[in-house]
Amino acid sequence: MKKVVLPAYNKNIIRAIRSLRTEQCALPRPENNEVLIKVHAAPCNPSDIAFLMGGYNIVKEVPAVPGFEGSGVVVEAGEGAEDIIGRKVSFFIQEESCGSWSEFVLTSRNKLVVLDEEMDMDQAACFAINPFTARGLLDIALLRENRAVIQNAAGGQVAAFVRQMAADMGVEVIDIVRKQETMERLKKEGAKHVLLENGPQFKQKLGKLVRQLDARLAFDAVGGPLSGEIFNAMPEDAELVSYGGLSTKDISGINPMDLIFHDKVISGFNLPEWREQMDDDFFEQISLEMQQLFISGVYRTKIQGSIGFDDIGNGLIQYLRNLSKGKMLLKAKV
Ligand SMILES: NC(=O)c1ccc[n+]([C@@H]2O[C@H](COP(=O)([O-])OP(=O)(O)OC[C@H]3O[C@@H](n4cnc5c(N)ncnc54)[C@H](OP(=O)(O)O)[C@@H]3O)[C@@H](O)[C@H]2O)c1
Repeated sequence: MKKVVLPAYNKNIIRAIRSLRTEQCALPRPENNEVLIKVHAAPCNPSDIAFLMGGYNIVKEVPAVPGFEGSGVVVEAGEGAEDIIGRKVSFFIQEESCGSWSEFVLTSRNKLVVLDEEMDMDQAACFAINPFTARGLLDIALLRENRAVIQNAAGGQVAAFVRQMAADMGVEVIDIVRKQETMERLKKEGAKHVLLENGPQFKQKLGKLVRQLDARLAFDAVGGPLSGEIFNAMPEDAELVSYGGLSTKDISGINPMDLIFHDKVISGFNLPEWREQMDDDFFEQISLEMQQLFISGVYRTKIQGSIGFDDIGNGLIQYLRNLSKGKMLLKAKV
């Protein structure tokens, strides 16, 4: 089988991408409760970019196969997993031994979402992480009984699902983006409150919206001083949930008095932990409901293109230049 290999981590992302190569290796064989999946597609996510730079919380021994997510069909199974041979699956894998940027993936059955046969396989490639992340973040809003949330990196795909699910729940969203063109697109798509993080009077505009909507919960995928600005704009009893570090900068500008005297909180969200805390039957129910929304076309991950392993360098650089345009899918052959 063919796989993409990262020879060494490199903080310079362009060099890391340009160093990727393809290799042939023997097909692995599944053992008990394991399955072999013929991969249909695997996206490049911001976590993959951080991984290539050696800046993610998963660090594999190099040379390593990147990719944490994908879709495919189970072609072989070990004892205990034979019932899903031939089934379409989405998967989220973080094991040392494999990555989704590969023609085949060997993983354990419990890392899979077994799909409805009607699921589109490109959409399925981006199903296992982002829609569930948005759902997990909004669960926090439900628990806290917040009727308005703030989110940055709002042109991205997690944010798009948050916007859509929040609208269904009657929760208002204040979206923060870093590019004028993204702001215009979101407004065209119906987003009600969109702010440009480096635009004129950003802090004043944010403060006004926060007061108007009583926003006391923020989903932060960026970090750096922007996190502090959002945190400071919120009143007492507010929570900033960090779930991404796109700026690669430390969260900054936070006054400890707010934490001590005003019941304000900074917390973190990590999808695998959210999943672990959840009852299997409830997860299955959420998964089935979301699949139906994908099948009917209500939910959709924006995909900007597909690239073959042999053109991976150019394809990933195109994604990096405009993340908001949608996911770039990797396929062994396009
Ligand atoms: N904690 C978890 O369990 C979990 C699960 C899923 C995802 N995540 C995280 O969620 C974040 C979003 O993922 P995604 O799949 O939605 O990403 P995506 O679709 O690739 O979009 C990323 C978005 O972030 C914006 N962005 C990138 N760097 C930025 C910066 N320095 N400052 C402000 N905005 C920036 C991009 O805007 P431009 O178009 O302007 O570049 C784009 O709109 C990532 O950090 C990812 O790792 C976390």
